Amino acid sequence: MELIRFNAPHGAEIRNLDLSQPMSEETVESVRSAWHENPVLLFRGQNLDDQQLMALARNFGELELPPSRLLKYSHGSGQKEDVPPEINVISNIVENGKKIGQLGAEEAKWHTDTGFVEKPPAGSFLHAKELPPEGEGANTSFLNLYDAYEALPDDLREQVEDRWSKHDPSYTSDGVLRKDFRAYSDPSMGPGPCHPLVREHPETGRKALYLGRRFNSYVLGLTVEDSEELLDRLWAHATQDRFLYEHVWSLGDVLIWDNRCVMHRREAFNPNMRRRMHRAQTAGDRPFR
Ligand code: OGA
Ligand code: MN
Repeated sequence: MELIRFNAPHGAEIRNLDLSQPMSEETVESVRSAWHENPVLLFRGQNLDDQQLMALARNFGELELPPSRLLKYSHGSGQKEDVPPEINVISNIVENGKKIGQLGAEEAKWHTDTGFVEKPPAGSFLHAKELPPEGEGANTSFLNLYDAYEALPDDLREQVEDRWSKHDPSYTSDGVLRKDFRAYSDPSMGPGPCHPLVREHPETGRKALYLGRRFNSYVLGLTVEDSEELLDRLWAHATQDRFLYEHVWSLGDVLIWDNRCVMHRREAFNPNMRRRMHRAQTAGDRPFR
């Protein structure tokens, strides 16, 4: 196994490891510690079925269910029966008039996965199974929120230290109102749990900004106007290129990221192209600081 750091503020590629095979304790330890150093880890040229993807994720923690099931989204995820409930299919493909997965071909705006539950998932394990042709886009970008926290200007840092924000479950990251939820106009009035704006990573002990999603976010204890202003400043700070890694997908890529210290977005792509990813996720704890 060989580790090559990305030419970006976080992330690394691990080579010479076939993820379809069970890992020795020692390898698991090395990969986990590489992940703690590099919260986005890439493995190229893999070919995993769902059970193998789930087995990979289990090396990092207990499996968690996808958001559609966590929210008990009554109409089901539309997912085909041959896909295990722990797997989240991320795809724009429609078969027999039904979407086979989550997120269409629209942009998935900056987000951390499933921050809108009490205990958001820790890791996401995304495997590219079908992609648009090379050069057709649908890249996925990641922000390092340890670095963003550490680089906060003093006045902003003071404003976030003991603040909590509300995380809204109503919309998917591609802007679709989930079934069973209603649109609302005052972000302080919507549903969703509150998490600290700065969280301590339970395994590395490092502090990271924890923003979730911009839309319908609200900082507790502030007027909506002040909350909007603070959030706009935080988001402008956190989304700077100096914190960013942009991933260009190849078939067979497995990308692992740590939702406790990175955010991601996916650009829109041509809806006539087929794109299909399978994702497993591990359970996380309640964000604390
Ligand atoms: C996800 C996600 C991005 C992508 O799986 O959580 O945001 O590239 N996907 O499909
Ligand atoms: Mn996501």
